[in-house]
Amino acid sequence: MMRNRTRRLRYDSNLRDLISENRVVVDDLIYPLFVKSGSDIREEIPTLPGNFRVSPDDKLRNEAERILESGLKAILLFGIPEDERRDETGSQARAEDGPVQKACRLLDEEYPELFVITDVCLCAYTSHGQCGIYRDGKIINDGTLPYLAETALSHVRSGADMVAPSDMMDGRIKAIRDKLDEKGYSRIPIMSYSAKYSSAFYGPFRAAADSAPAEGGRATHQMDPANSREALKVVRRDVKEGADIVMVKPALAYLDIIHRVRHETEVPLAAYNVSGEFALACQGDQADLVEKKAILNEILTSIRRAGADLIITYHALDFAEEGR
Ligand code: PBG
Repeated sequence: MMRNRTRRLRYDSNLRDLISENRVVVDDLIYPLFVKSGSDIREEIPTLPGNFRVSPDDKLRNEAERILESGLKAILLFGIPEDERRDETGSQARAEDGPVQKACRLLDEEYPELFVITDVCLCAYTSHGQCGIYRDGKIINDGTLPYLAETALSHVRSGADMVAPSDMMDGRIKAIRDKLDEKGYSRIPIMSYSAKYSSAFYGPFRAAADSAPAEGGRATHQMDPANSREALKVVRRDVKEGADIVMVKPALAYLDIIHRVRHETEVPLAAYNVSGEFALACQGDQADLVEKKAILNEILTSIRRAGADLIITYHALDFAEEGR
């Protein structure tokens, strides 16, 4: 007699739903949004189908309304300055009239119910495309920290609800926390891109933000994909420096890292379902190899199952709109 029949729980879809261990819900999703300096811009990003670069005006208003309508609650802003305003230190990253600052002011004033997170890095704003101050072919770590802190502060002054440093310099969390506290923003949380790997999965994002480094890669500051103990080390260090939420990025090829960080630390954990993961699913669909929606839902579920509390994904808006 066969008593242990696992299929017994699989015949009925209601029962399958009842016993399901993990579910991706809109509440946990963060939608990345690219804000481009200029006016009246809404252009689809060729490498990220269904995602748009918008200018901080009515085009952003329309996007914000669509996002709120879908039930999504949080966005992650990336800025793209005018080409001719990129310079050595990435001054548009911290400028009053920078794309992110303009977007934050508009959203804070008109859509206060939307939770606005800003990516803090210099790569989209520097003429050389490096994540920090660049001298003699090297990114200067400590000399970059004040610029990152100023950038974070200017985002928060413009109305950002949380900042997310993605530059991977040592000491940036402390530098940003100190600066925000000193200026009276001790209630603003920091979500640290802690375990951010030096990954080939960022290609479609770099095309979208035009932020690829002019020379060299990012292996001198981002993590080696071969390492997992190091992820725990950076997470613990970042929490000590004041990170409120930590992140593992990318997600799909790093589910083991998500799982380990989840089980060996207590802080809320975000996972970034990055551009390459999304773009491959889109291209696979185009080639009739896989079905985009099904494969992305499965990927998001696996990220959740691995232990992520929050998921940043280019699929968030479609997911939210379809689920309504
Ligand atoms: C900025 C930054 C990058 C991403 C997020 N913030 C690019 C990089 O590190 O080169 C990648 C996001 C994605 O691929 O979806 N440093």
